[in-house]
Amino acid sequence: MIRVEKLSKIYRTSLGSVPALQEIDLQIGAGEIFGIAGYSGAGKSTFLRCLNRLEEADSGRIVIDGEDIRLLNRHDLAQARRRIGMIFQHFNLLDSRNVADNIAFPLELAGQNYAQRRARVEELASLVGLSDKLLSRPSQLSGGQKQRVGIARALALGPRVLLCDEATSALDPPTALQILELLQDLNQRLGLTIVLVTHQLEIIRGFCSQMALLDQGRIVERGPTARIFRSPESLIGKKLLDVGQKLFRPAEVMA
Ligand SMILES: Nc1ncnc2c1ncn2[C@@H]1O[C@H](COP(=O)(O)OP(=O)(O)OP(=O)(O)O)[C@@H](O)[C@H]1O
Ligand SMILES: [Mg+2]
Repeated sequence: MIRVEKLSKIYRTSLGSVPALQEIDLQIGAGEIFGIAGYSGAGKSTFLRCLNRLEEADSGRIVIDGEDIRLLNRHDLAQARRRIGMIFQHFNLLDSRNVADNIAFPLELAGQNYAQRRARVEELASLVGLSDKLLSRPSQLSGGQKQRVGIARALALGPRVLLCDEATSALDPPTALQILELLQDLNQRLGLTIVLVTHQLEIIRGFCSQMALLDQGRIVERGPTARIFRSPESLIGKKLLDVGQKLFRPAEVMA
């Protein structure tokens, strides 16, 4: 469903060039929850943002549901983006709007009338468990509730793919778990394909069937999550897992 071939991206700044993505090849199956991990600066966000062209790659192909995303003109890209939702670490909500109007924002841009928007907003709020908060402002919500608004907004136009960039990194562990369980539920109920970028390996272990590890803009390891956790082949894989185990070792083992 998502096929990426030889995708490269260099950031050029006055301070020099940063090769953020180097010939990335990756396939993500329909209905999968696919995890992408790697150290800070590895290129995870750049990769995700290239998928919906928030960032323009320099070369390579991105094919989503048979559509060659990099070749689309403005109009067709806007249509394709309806099928590719995205959620962010810091939620990116508009505080000048209440919850209902935040969720309705993409529906407004798509030209839906008030009655259509209202019905869809109610449906989405119920899907993410926010029906009682529609008139609240984002600043009146907890982090977990804010991310539920982000998810409802991302799902407004019925995407087939949801891109998640560190979507639970700003939340405390129990709240993060609730949001991940909501994403898992949406994956199963709606058949949504989810690409989950995170630096927290235990999230990938718990929720992703397939994964890839990025390092300095390259994929250094990919495959079934269970296999990579059992026997990582790359040096980075071994290092990341080692650090993960030390950080998240239960207290009684540390004593
Ligand atoms: N707009 C930009 N201009 C110049 N360089 C950039 C820009 N955005 C990212 N970079 C550089 O590209 C590389 C990849 O950055 P990216 O944000 O994709 O990493 P990341 O894996 O998401 O890191 P993190 O885990 O910290 O979010 C880094 O070296 C970063 O400094
Ligand atoms: Mg990032």
